[in-house]
Amino acid sequence: MAVLIYSRNHPVEDWAAALRKEAPDLDIRLHPQTGNPAEIDVALVWKPPPGLLQSFPNLKLIQSFGAGVDGILADPNIPKHVPLARVVDGRLTQGMSEYVLLHVLRFHRQVDTMANNQRNRTWRWLPLVDASERVVGIMGMGTLGGHVARKLVDFGFQVASWSRGLKAVDGVTSFHGDDHLEGFLRICNILVCLLPLTPQTRGIISRRTLSLLPRGAYVINAGRGGHVVEADLLHALDSEWLSGATLDVFNEEPLRPDHPFWTHPKVTVTPHNAADSIPAHVAPQIVDNIRRLQQGLPILRLVDYARGY
Ligand code: NAP
Ligand code: GLV
Repeated sequence: MAVLIYSRNHPVEDWAAALRKEAPDLDIRLHPQTGNPAEIDVALVWKPPPGLLQSFPNLKLIQSFGAGVDGILADPNIPKHVPLARVVDGRLTQGMSEYVLLHVLRFHRQVDTMANNQRNRTWRWLPLVDASERVVGIMGMGTLGGHVARKLVDFGFQVASWSRGLKAVDGVTSFHGDDHLEGFLRICNILVCLLPLTPQTRGIISRRTLSLLPRGAYVINAGRGGHVVEADLLHALDSEWLSGATLDVFNEEPLRPDHPFWTHPKVTVTPHNAADSIPAHVAPQIVDNIRRLQQGLPILRLVDYARGY
């Protein structure tokens, strides 16, 4: 089996080493040392240049480096007859829960206000709000959103979720579908976006949806930058409608040095590392899919091309 690896964001040598450790028989090729394109069976990719995947006439599996596949589906020439698999990994999921918990608690416990007060040597007692009085709303109740929701319930927050289909998770109020988005947003003191980026979810955090949040709400976006209409978010922050935003993902990555998010007093920027695929942890599931391919068994963690996630 010949496996082509392409990514400008991942340490591809480490990935090749992790795959070889799991499966020494694999013929691993790092782009652009592809060799004969007709020999490539599997492509392990992240944001491949448009047309790259189509150039392998005998491709049998496209495997994403990560959980999200929008960077692969962005290629208009993607060969849709080839199965596309994504990563579902316990360590990545745990990492996302750590990230969301960290920033929810930061807002909840007014950490930024206290840090400011410390800088000014100001001893100011701040009234505490009980977690049960705050609603954390999670957009996207899949692998990541579901895990995050359960952790937040354990911390005593009121938790609401919004997804395409109705969910039944203990302690979580489930909203679903476009008709119930408004009802969901109206109760969220802290909005967390963990949606996949699809034509339906692009620009979903906009002037309209932000205006439906209660005044003083916070936004945490760890889905994709394309979910946020950046000018609308800045307007909501500057007009005092929102209290703050934590952003891990951006329309353009890396975020350009003159972007207003860098210096905005209410914005926390993190460099798209809320959660990551670690080669040693994820290589076994990729090799498992390659073995399944060899044995004619169903590929796991498949993406539905029609839904886009
Ligand atoms: P997932 O398991 O596929 O879950 C996606 C969730 O979004 C599902 O609950 C789905 O609803 C919901 N959804 C999709 N389209 C919707 C729509 N139009 N309206 C309402 N709900 C919709 O994905 P995941 O593994 O949790 O990952 C989610 C995303 O996180 C990824 O796609 C990626 O963009 C992002 N991510 C970011 C990082 C980072 O470091 N920042 C790391 C990993 C992943 P149903 O359940 O009803 O289908
Ligand atoms: C990271 O953003 C991923 O999709 O895994």
